[in-house]
Amino acid sequence: MKTIKPKYKISDFELLVTKSISRRNLLKNGISFGVSSFILGTASKSVLADNKKTSFDFNQVKSNTLDTVTLPDNYMWQTVIRWGDPMWTEGEEFNSFSRGNANSQKLSFGDNNDGMHLFNHNGHNILVVNNEYTNQKIIYGNRDSKSAENLDDINKGKAAHGISIVELSFNKKWEVVKDSNFNRRITADTPMELSGYARGHELLKTSFDKNGTKCLGTWNNCGNGKTPWGTYLACEENFNGYFSSNDKKTKLSNEFIRYGISANDWGYNWANYDERFDISLHPNESNRFGYIVEIDPLNPNSIPKKLTSLGRFKHENAELVINKDSRVVVYMGDDERGEFLYKFVSENKYKKNGDNRNLLNNGKLFVAKFHDHKRGEWIELNPKTTGFKTQAEICIYTRIAASNVGATTMDRPEWVASNPNKAEVYCSLTNNRNRGIKPNKGGDLTPLFGPNKRKNNIYGQIIKWNPNNNDHSSNLFEWSLFAMAGNPEIHNNNYAGTENIDKDNMFNSPDGLGFNKEGVLLIQTDGSYSNEGEYIGMGNNQMLCGNPITGEIKRFLVGPKECEVTGITWSKDYKTLFVGLQHPGEKGNSNFPGGKNSVPRSSVIAISKKDGSKITFIS
Ligand code: FEO
Ligand code: CA
Ligand code: CA
Ligand code: CA
Repeated sequence: MKTIKPKYKISDFELLVTKSISRRNLLKNGISFGVSSFILGTASKSVLADNKKTSFDFNQVKSNTLDTVTLPDNYMWQTVIRWGDPMWTEGEEFNSFSRGNANSQKLSFGDNNDGMHLFNHNGHNILVVNNEYTNQKIIYGNRDSKSAENLDDINKGKAAHGISIVELSFNKKWEVVKDSNFNRRITADTPMELSGYARGHELLKTSFDKNGTKCLGTWNNCGNGKTPWGTYLACEENFNGYFSSNDKKTKLSNEFIRYGISANDWGYNWANYDERFDISLHPNESNRFGYIVEIDPLNPNSIPKKLTSLGRFKHENAELVINKDSRVVVYMGDDERGEFLYKFVSENKYKKNGDNRNLLNNGKLFVAKFHDHKRGEWIELNPKTTGFKTQAEICIYTRIAASNVGATTMDRPEWVASNPNKAEVYCSLTNNRNRGIKPNKGGDLTPLFGPNKRKNNIYGQIIKWNPNNNDHSSNLFEWSLFAMAGNPEIHNNNYAGTENIDKDNMFNSPDGLGFNKEGVLLIQTDGSYSNEGEYIGMGNNQMLCGNPITGEIKRFLVGPKECEVTGITWSKDYKTLFVGLQHPGEKGNSNFPGGKNSVPRSSVIAISKKDGSKITFIS
């Protein structure tokens, strides 16, 4: 393919104010992208903002399409746990011929690990990991049909979903502590409590749960969150893909359509073996999914709680910040083309060592509306603003309520991450092929506007915003772009990306985000790994480090073939960074991590520095 040197025309894309400021001036003046004045946090000023050529302690990794993990020379990695690894001694080692059964799967690590957090409790390292979904072709690779063929297969699939809680030990390397009292599998059949404003609402009642207060299971847990009171938040994303109808003529309500629920599931086939997944028989069952689930990782007998007050949509992650007035603010994305960005502000204040159990049940839910000129506002979703009768209904049909207030359709909001050095929040807008082309499922238009200005947005962007007066409960904010992904090797228009994207650090579809303590932004990708056409030069999915002050972005890790890189957590001493590698070989072209001829298995890996020092990424 012919390589065209990018020549950026600012008129092409007036959003990119960065183009008018040379990189040198950026560094000299300490001005970041966008209009937000840069009130520097103390830590970031000393370690990230100086005028070094690079802020990072590693040489950029070149993009590649290898079937392994590639890191800078001074770092190393090991596999910690893989799909199907037993968590109890009574479990079986993974059998690559059968690929496990329902019983072995219940006793082992789930599939497709995504968001995660390592809790440290009295010296115990307790890793909590979402197991988002299953690839039928891989988990049923032993079946001719490459899909579930009997009840045991279905139960194996259900058990491969949910959350794995597993203790790890470290002695030169990280290992699973089999039979630890903390070990637990939460699956698509684990009893849960419905809490918050929608608890007990008519729309949550089913013939199995006449009170609308209890449900079974959680699935498609994508990103995660954690609370300062020690609980884990698992976020239900594509929950719709598991429901179907045996009556193909079932009339779909507007609510079903808005949430992507139809007569056909996404190949899971659960309704044929468990009738609660049949929407013609149990139309309210799906209203009990699409929430954030709060889990106490230290008590294996605790009942997970679905937090309905945080709204129902395709939750990506939950970024929780303690506001300066001690109220809790949770930022949340709805990962669907043309859906919205939300925040929840608790009614009550967080009290250290106090009883914070109900903080996420009572509060206000807001949706973001972006204006031009870098301004934005949060609009409260309540009966007055939305036209809904009760807050409970708003919690169940949150997308529709948000449409009713004229929220801004976004390019698929994925993870949200809050800068530890200042009141500043980042969100990946992964991509949106419908931008400027098609409305969302509620009929809301997707104009080229605000932070979503690229038609047929195949590459994605990372936005950031600063709440007014550094107050996360403020209704007003200023926004700007941290980076617009793109390919400057083949484009010279706004598909080239922002100035901080070049031929050496290109990526597409930013997804996982997280800050380390020092304020370095980790960016994980879930995009095209074709390494061809629009994506030429980008290689496999990857993880990069971003400097929020200078805008510098440098590739740190390249994952194996056909994987997504997702999930970030740290050991207590910050010498180990845990990263998730999801769905290697989803199209059949990887043997990661086992190598030659082995079944590809989603895995958590541990990354450390060869010299054993703390990982800060900062030189
Ligand atoms: Fe499961 Fe939006 O990623
Ligand atoms: Ca994922
Ligand atoms: Ca994701
Ligand atoms: Ca994604």
